[in-house]
Amino acid sequence: AKRFGILTAGGDCPGLNAVIRGAVLKGETVYGQEFVGFRDGWYGLVYGDIIDLDRSVVRGLSNQGGTILGTSRFGPYSEPDGGPENIKKVLKNLGIDGVIAIGGEGTAAASKRLLEDGIPIVGVPKTIDNDINATDYTFGFNTAVEIATEAIDRLRTTGNSHKRCMVLEVMGRHAGWIALHSGIAGGAHAILIPEQPESINQICAWVTSVKNRGRAPMVVVAEGFKLPEMAEAHSTKGLDGFNRPRLGGIAEVLAPMIEERTGIEARATVLGHIQRGGVPTAFDRVLATRLGMATADLVADKKWGHMVALRGTDIVRTTFDEALADPKQVPLDQYQEIRVIFG
Ligand code: F6P
Repeated sequence: AKRFGILTAGGDCPGLNAVIRGAVLKGETVYGQEFVGFRDGWYGLVYGDIIDLDRSVVRGLSNQGGTILGTSRFGPYSEPDGGPENIKKVLKNLGIDGVIAIGGEGTAAASKRLLEDGIPIVGVPKTIDNDINATDYTFGFNTAVEIATEAIDRLRTTGNSHKRCMVLEVMGRHAGWIALHSGIAGGAHAILIPEQPESINQICAWVTSVKNRGRAPMVVVAEGFKLPEMAEAHSTKGLDGFNRPRLGGIAEVLAPMIEERTGIEARATVLGHIQRGGVPTAFDRVLATRLGMATADLVADKKWGHMVALRGTDIVRTTFDEALADPKQVPLDQYQEIRVIFG
């Protein structure tokens, strides 16, 4: 039987386990394939650290958040033991015929390089941010939007009681999809995204007009949003070398500025990793399961260098190259469409 190794790399995301389950169930049932999981992303591939995956291991996994395999931001080339020659040896020793890498942009870039270095590899796009080019939606996004929307609903009742301006920061370094969708769903009075700088004067004008109607202003801001006057200096490198958008969190910068300029009391909430943890929504479970199943087809057909993706309502095949074309940001006309009702 053909044997494939699955890894999950980069930030975790609700639905990862459903992808693993979908691939293993279809692969075993339809093609007689065998699977192992690499522990902690590329680390498990570089060091041959694996667990067996079969029907009994993936039972009941579709509603479990996180990843049973573990993940890391470790790269396949970054350690002295990394690199294609070592990885080829690991695959040969373990009798593995191909790699399935579930991850975001960084994972796709590493996968493409490994492919060019002769490693048989396919991909599954993953991010709660929904900013991968080749797919209409990524799994995990819908879950994050649900959680952010619930946070807005909850902030609204406390905001209204105290007549305060509530500023909610959601994830999204390069794209404002979570902010846009949760902001629309939760009826925010202003939505601030990385794609479109807005001045503090404009933000305060929206806040004041809401307050003048006797309502508590609700501002939703993506972590990557910048005021036009803000410098890049706010970005900072983490312990793992990963670039964090900024130190304090943009909501904590905005709330005092709003308070000072409008005289309206303001409070900041940073939603953080709550929006990435826990049970995936039914939408994300369905999407992730379908992507996992389509991945079993991909490796059966030896479509190395390809990725599975969602186009409209269909699961299709795309490539690492396409996924790595510019990140999928919120089109400005989509933002303008909703911006007219801010304030
Ligand atoms: O890419 C997913 C994401 O959750 C981003 O929205 C966020 O900027 C980043 O990961 C946070 O990374 P970490 O979990 O490593 O702090």
